[in-house]
Amino acid sequence: MTYKLKLRKNIMITKEPNKHRSYIGNMWERIGQLQFDFLITQGLEKPHVLYDIACGSLRAGIHIIPYLNQGNYCGIEKHDWLISAGTLLELPQKVYSQQKPELVISDKFEFEKFSKSPDFCIAQSLFTHLPVSEIKDCLEKLRAVAKPTTVLFATFFETSTEVKNPNVQSDAQGWRYTLNQMQLFGKHTGWLLEYIGNWGHPKGQKMLKYTPV
Ligand SMILES: C[S@@+](CC[C@H](N)C(=O)[O-])C[C@H]1O[C@@H](n2cnc3c(N)ncnc32)[C@H](O)[C@@H]1O
Repeated sequence: MTYKLKLRKNIMITKEPNKHRSYIGNMWERIGQLQFDFLITQGLEKPHVLYDIACGSLRAGIHIIPYLNQGNYCGIEKHDWLISAGTLLELPQKVYSQQKPELVISDKFEFEKFSKSPDFCIAQSLFTHLPVSEIKDCLEKLRAVAKPTTVLFATFFETSTEVKNPNVQSDAQGWRYTLNQMQLFGKHTGWLLEYIGNWGHPKGQKMLKYTPV
């Protein structure tokens, strides 16, 4: 379902005031600012189009949406209540109206619902919650809408040897992968991997850069 303005009025906000922050792991200011600063150092400029993949309650979005040109922030998220909390409780109404972010509610990586192809993409703490099949699905579907110059930054929890992860997706549990696994997921879906590694994440998630092959 594509996010519509009326959703802002219709979706019930949880009675737990900061649930939309705790659900995505807290550290609201720190990890939001970290993502914005990282993208700027990687060359994000106002005219660029950014996909925030699994944008949650707009922890990064509240920094990126006002920065980019109107309509150039595209967030996709599976939980409508997180998007609603982000737009209603975190993003000033004026910024929302002026900047017109594109927000899509989907758990199937339906990037074709955005009106523009991305220059930059960020998937912060998404692959840390996904099994192999869903990581590949995300990469494959993103590759289908990517330009030759599109860049994807994705974080993961790195292990030195392969571990047995749970079989099903969970927002509560952390999946761990080796760098080699992450490279193969990219290879199988049309992406070349560059390891960035430490980028200042407080829980030690490492950063990867994927570019189209
Ligand atoms: C740890 S949170 C990170 C949120 C955001 N990237 C941030 O840094 O604030 C993980 C997010 O992934 C979302 N998610 C998990 N699977 C997803 C899927 N298949 N499609 C879209 N979002 C998904 C969860 O709902 C949650 O909001």
